[in-house]
Amino acid sequence: MTTNGDTWKRNRLDLSKKVAVVTGGARGIGEATGYELAREGIKAVAVVDVAADVADFAAEGNAHFKRDVFVPFRGDVTDSAFRKRVFTEMQKQHGPVSICVPAAGITKDRLAVRLNKETGQSDVYPEEDFRRVMEIDLTAPIYWAIDTIASVAEDRARRGLKRWDPSEPIEGCVIFIGSVSSAGNKGQISYATAKAGLEGAQATLAAEAMFYGVRSAIIHPGYTDTQMVAALGRDFISEHILPHTQLRRLISPSEIAHAIVFMIQNSAVSGQLWVDAGWHPAV
Ligand SMILES: NC(=O)c1ccc[n+]([C@@H]2O[C@H](COP(=O)([O-])OP(=O)(O)OC[C@H]3O[C@@H](n4cnc5c(N)ncnc54)[C@H](O)[C@@H]3O)[C@@H](O)[C@H]2O)c1
Repeated sequence: MTTNGDTWKRNRLDLSKKVAVVTGGARGIGEATGYELAREGIKAVAVVDVAADVADFAAEGNAHFKRDVFVPFRGDVTDSAFRKRVFTEMQKQHGPVSICVPAAGITKDRLAVRLNKETGQSDVYPEEDFRRVMEIDLTAPIYWAIDTIASVAEDRARRGLKRWDPSEPIEGCVIFIGSVSSAGNKGQISYATAKAGLEGAQATLAAEAMFYGVRSAIIHPGYTDTQMVAALGRDFISEHILPHTQLRRLISPSEIAHAIVFMIQNSAVSGQLWVDAGWHPAV
């Protein structure tokens, strides 16, 4: 057997010439991912977020890294015209977007059916909430990913390149953010459905986008210490989450970001990665 410990380094995706888009990039897992990409020397990251302070976030990050690596875009990920503008601007300023981490997400949690014991009437999960969660957590990540693949495809066409060949470097990568909830989770009918749906999108795009040299994978984080989880409340976390993990603590956003960037850089990674701190929910 030949052992060459440096092969993975030779095959590693060179981020220094790559342009990424990270949605939900001003907070939590998206924020940590942008920082990890910058630490690894990426050329530029479009930080996309609806948060009012996305420009401040980018300015702080640029000061931290002493270079203009973060480009802020404030808007709603479900707005197609906004999405097109982000890709056009990044292409003009830095070159084609070839890496996508569509991390923006929301939860609207409640039981699918609640029964009023006194009246016997049922109260079902609101359809408008279900549709909104699908728009943000399922449709939007898929379209940000598709536009990333389109941007690489058009760039290859401009360079006269056809089907990607193994003698070429990998062009780009999409990492979807699933969740342990994709396996089903009480109280999360919309969120769990959206996250499970991303698995189908990932597997399909993995099969299609390699034509252009773009890989695709999905990470399933467990409960991570971000505003999304803090909103559950300290008591709920201590009682219903921590006892069902091996680590008995929340995962840090930077642990997830580290795993995401590993998935981007190591081209042998495909499919799903569970980064769940040993989450085994009680039935
Ligand atoms: N925190 C966890 O435990 C956990 C676990 C598994 C998966 N995830 C997933 O990770 C991703 C990031 O979650 P997080 O915990 O960092 O959440 P977070 O709430 O800390 O950050 C989400 C970010 O997305 C932005 N955002 C929300 N809706 C948006 C919209 N319509 N347009 C633009 N930006 C929007 C928010 O402003 C925020 O900055 C989500 O997809 C979430 O489902 C989180």
